[in-house]
Amino acid sequence: MPLHAHLTVNERGHLEIGGCDAVELARRYGTPLYVLDEDRVRSACRAYLDALARYYPKGKIVYAGKALLTTGVCRIIASEGLFLDVVSGGELYTALRAGFPPERMYFHGNNKSDAELRMGLAAGVGRIVVDSEAELERLEELAAAEDCTADILLRVTPGVEAHTHSYMQTGQLDSKFGIPLAGGLALAAARRAARSPRLRLRGYHCHIGSQILDLTAFDITVAMMMDFLADAQAATGVAAEELDLGGGLGIRYTEADVPPGPHELLRLLGDALRREAARRELPLPVLVLEPGRSIVGDAGVTLYTVGFIKRIPGLRTYVAVDGGMADNPRVALYQARYTAVVANKAAQEPVEIVSIAGKCCESGDMLVFDAPVPPLERGDVLAVLSTGAYNYSMASHYNRLPKPAMVLVSQGRHDLLVERESYEDLVRHDRLPSWLGPAAPQAAGGRGGREVPG
Ligand SMILES: Cc1ncc(COP(=O)(O)O)c(C=O)c1O
Repeated sequence: MPLHAHLTVNERGHLEIGGCDAVELARRYGTPLYVLDEDRVRSACRAYLDALARYYPKGKIVYAGKALLTTGVCRIIASEGLFLDVVSGGELYTALRAGFPPERMYFHGNNKSDAELRMGLAAGVGRIVVDSEAELERLEELAAAEDCTADILLRVTPGVEAHTHSYMQTGQLDSKFGIPLAGGLALAAARRAARSPRLRLRGYHCHIGSQILDLTAFDITVAMMMDFLADAQAATGVAAEELDLGGGLGIRYTEADVPPGPHELLRLLGDALRREAARRELPLPVLVLEPGRSIVGDAGVTLYTVGFIKRIPGLRTYVAVDGGMADNPRVALYQARYTAVVANKAAQEPVEIVSIAGKCCESGDMLVFDAPVPPLERGDVLAVLSTGAYNYSMASHYNRLPKPAMVLVSQGRHDLLVERESYEDLVRHDRLPSWLGPAAPQAAGGRGGREVPG
């Protein structure tokens, strides 16, 4: 079984996702191709809701759209009854276009523009998560100008930094996000927000990190945030309704990753909240969680076609594929580790160790280091697993590579979530200043500028 229970190998020895043969998908839609397993996204949503119902029913699950957002993804999230976290006018626009109920949206961002704040106010988003004193002031002005009020959370930085396998408490808070608890800064902002006639302060938010595999940092965060809630209540005279602890739960990228699931997280948080609330005689807040990666991450697979293979005897074999850092920048950005499966040879035993390289002009453009693979040849279909989060959403046009298509699969059905970009799409927004001469003739070749699949 290739890494995840929802990925299987069919009788042809091909990788199967969502009941679809990955090799057939590659043939039909071309590569690189993002594939998203709808049932896996839905089961992750339900796992969070089940865990909430069991361990802390007073709560909300807010999907963090930065992990992956398209109108189709919004529809799935809405139909599962989750809330949605958006961080820009573009994400808000996408969600509104999908018909996502604005009152179920949380609007984040450390530097929302006036236009974005106005857009949030006009749409009637459920919460605006205010990231700084300066934003608090600006939002008050804008709400007054629009003659409306806004429900807000204040984002604070508790000084807990969670890493993949360890955690540390930092006294020194060095982050562009949030208002530090240290030095009374967050308390001052809370006082100001509570006094505002235009803002309804509903509670507080923090986010301690991502790809968290050790839950200890969450325990510490609950204690620190409940201390803050007690101080804020004393300072403002109002109990916080909501405590939003952000996202961060890790997923399985390689065999070495053993992530806790939503049930373990909610059990720990439920116990910690009850314990810490009782200790300070505080009412239990509504718990808000904002998972992104753990909703869509392992539901995604990216399919590539193997190109040239370069063997450096005694050193390394590079297997180049037709995508890379433009569709998945995480390896170059964070040295992220992935698992690769040769989709058309998924039942074959590995015979060698190779490294999978992208086709971009950067030595750091790698996808997987030291992957065990069966005998490989040009034209094989290679699947990189767990690419549902922070791949498409972080994709670029580096080297003018058109962005790949994304296909939704479910129980043997498949259809496009995002169409493949064409070469013509790449030049669509280019303009020729008059002194550069007349418009260039349309370039020849490639199905009206569309990349030829495969
Ligand atoms: C404020 C906030 N909430 C939620 C998330 C989602 O985190 P994850 O995808 O790790 O669950 C992030 C990620 O950076 C974040 O910054």
